[in-house]
Amino acid sequence: MMPASGPAAVPDVCAGEAPGPDRVVVHAPAKVNLHLAAGPPGPDGYHPLVTVFQALSLYEEVAAARVAPGAGVTLSVSGRGTESTPRDASNLAVRAAHALADHLRRPADVALHLHKAVPVAGGMAGGSADAAAALMACDLLWDGGLEREELLDLAAALGADVPFALVGGTALGTVRGDRLTPVTARGELHWVLAFAHEGLSTPEVFAALDEARAAGRAPARDGLDAEVPPDLARALEDGDPVALGAALRNDLQDAATALRPELAEVVALARGAGALGAVVSGSGPTVAVLASGADHATGLALALRASPSVAGTRHVHGPVAGARQVVGVDVSPQHPSLRGR
Ligand code: C5P
Repeated sequence: MMPASGPAAVPDVCAGEAPGPDRVVVHAPAKVNLHLAAGPPGPDGYHPLVTVFQALSLYEEVAAARVAPGAGVTLSVSGRGTESTPRDASNLAVRAAHALADHLRRPADVALHLHKAVPVAGGMAGGSADAAAALMACDLLWDGGLEREELLDLAAALGADVPFALVGGTALGTVRGDRLTPVTARGELHWVLAFAHEGLSTPEVFAALDEARAAGRAPARDGLDAEVPPDLARALEDGDPVALGAALRNDLQDAATALRPELAEVVALARGAGALGAVVSGSGPTVAVLASGADHATGLALALRASPSVAGTRHVHGPVAGARQVVGVDVSPQHPSLRGR
């Protein structure tokens, strides 16, 4: 066995190993929750969810490169928030590579590079997008040929938001948010994302929700309807951004705002500037602001950037497809296991 000579070691394919590409690049989208209802935590500490995800045109990119046998999994990172991204075995992309290698009963030898565009701990599932992209990239690099259900099962074991990053579009998520049903959504929505200076811890936001409910400061939610709320379903089906703006809801919004009071100002600023709606994404602190079109989005972004609580903005659209291989500037056909979704 050859010793590893570093993350970009020269490919050294063993005799008998299936030939494949030397490097595969896959990107996976961030998400916004158009609706998020959380029940009381179960015995495992997880809160049952009924949520509606939409995939946005803000992507994490993962390159998986062939390395010498025995080199193991190496990771390098560039882009947004690189200093707060773990480089060790706890990184979700690294865990994804190991999970897939175990599943395929093959050595986990790959050099991963993450290029991050989604803020770390921003409520937009950037880490989950890394995991989804790494799963697909390694499957293509290693010629694993996983079926869609196998890939989705591996994804769900890595984190509740990982399956959605594979599938993309607009989808209802139940249980932990990982049981997905596609939702009909017409038209293209324009969003302005208002990023915060610092991330929020998801468990802390869920704990703040539990505390508020225990103290009677937030309404209890003992039963969850495992369906898209009718006002939201209609707005999506009609492609009506005004109705959609009014239908945005997130049980975690007040909890995130209790931890970061300035989020209330950002939401109020967006509404005052004429947004069709504004909602904290997932556990926050990113605020997703709905615009009626590209020009409206430009104006809203300008207004939001005037706030000292906003670290930056980004105009994106949704829904977009889930994880896909990227070839040069072209996006290749979707991974075979997810075709037809
Ligand atoms: O799924 P993820 O690993 O991002 O979740 C991080 C933490 O957030 C969990 O360990 C749990 O404390 C909390 N969580 C929860 N209920 C969910 C999702 C996350 O309590 N449905």
